[in-house]
Amino acid sequence: MSGKPKVLVARAIFPEHLALLEPHCELDYNAGDEPLTKAELAARLVDKRAALITGSERIDAGVLAQAGELSAICSISVGYNHIDIAACTGAGVLVTNTPEVLTETTADMGFALLMAAARRISESERWLREGHWKRWALDQFLGTDVHGSTLGIVGMGRIGRAIARRARGFAMNVVYHNRARLAPELEAQSAAQYLDLDSLLRVSDHVILVLPYSVENHHLIGASQLALMKPYATLSNIARGGLIDERALCAALREGRIAAAALDVFEGEPQVLEELLALRNVVLTPHLGSASRATRDAMARLAIANLVAVLAGDKPPCLVNPQAWGH
Ligand code: DGY
Repeated sequence: MSGKPKVLVARAIFPEHLALLEPHCELDYNAGDEPLTKAELAARLVDKRAALITGSERIDAGVLAQAGELSAICSISVGYNHIDIAACTGAGVLVTNTPEVLTETTADMGFALLMAAARRISESERWLREGHWKRWALDQFLGTDVHGSTLGIVGMGRIGRAIARRARGFAMNVVYHNRARLAPELEAQSAAQYLDLDSLLRVSDHVILVLPYSVENHHLIGASQLALMKPYATLSNIARGGLIDERALCAALREGRIAAAALDVFEGEPQVLEELLALRNVVLTPHLGSASRATRDAMARLAIANLVAVLAGDKPPCLVNPQAWGH
């Protein structure tokens, strides 16, 4: 027995990250990286002081029920919709996330997806690889321009604003919708005009979703919202799958009611609807928003800094539920 606090590392992390944790705790490490079932997670949390998790582990009251020693759940993610914050706060469990370090990388990915959808990159590459290219043609794979177009950003937090900064380089006209309108200085910095969601959908050539998911905004984009979009418009989602009614999106894409979509996140991920897989005008990536080497390293280090602070009795730098502090 080391006498050190016990910590669960629920998914595989880089060896250098393990080395950062080792001096502070006795590790229970899921080195195999197979996501733990809810029952396994609950069982392995019974004697733990803290857990390092990712966005794939769901933490709810059931998982916490036997975790009497637990004082922190530290997620390697900015989003925390996989964690029941009220249940954690009720149980006196601190929840931490990893904001800021992934902002620019995720904004890069958002822009890459938008451009891939607009210029039909995946679709035309598949066609070329399949050996269909016999001649150049004036009307081949015509897309929608990105430069000079109108970009609608839904969710104007750090990542939304980082996308707006990129849009300026493409001379785009930026409109946004957010739960709360930005303060005038931030709005001016983003050179973005606030619109209600319906108006944004009507005027935008490209729409990108960058808002946190909650029960309230489940299927924010469904058939009636898609019906407001222009026929040449694209829709990209780098936030959470539950924001879009995927079956309604499939219908809109199939019937050409919008030009294309790009999805990095899915409601049932890692399962992806067969209907989506069968469509040619949708770019599909496996939740890679923050997946650059440097950023994933920074996220893991920040999550570990949060966890080590809790073990030392200090307030962690990225505390999501301050109400639980001092519980
Ligand atoms: C995040 O950080 O929230 C990403 O979506 C990875 O889960």
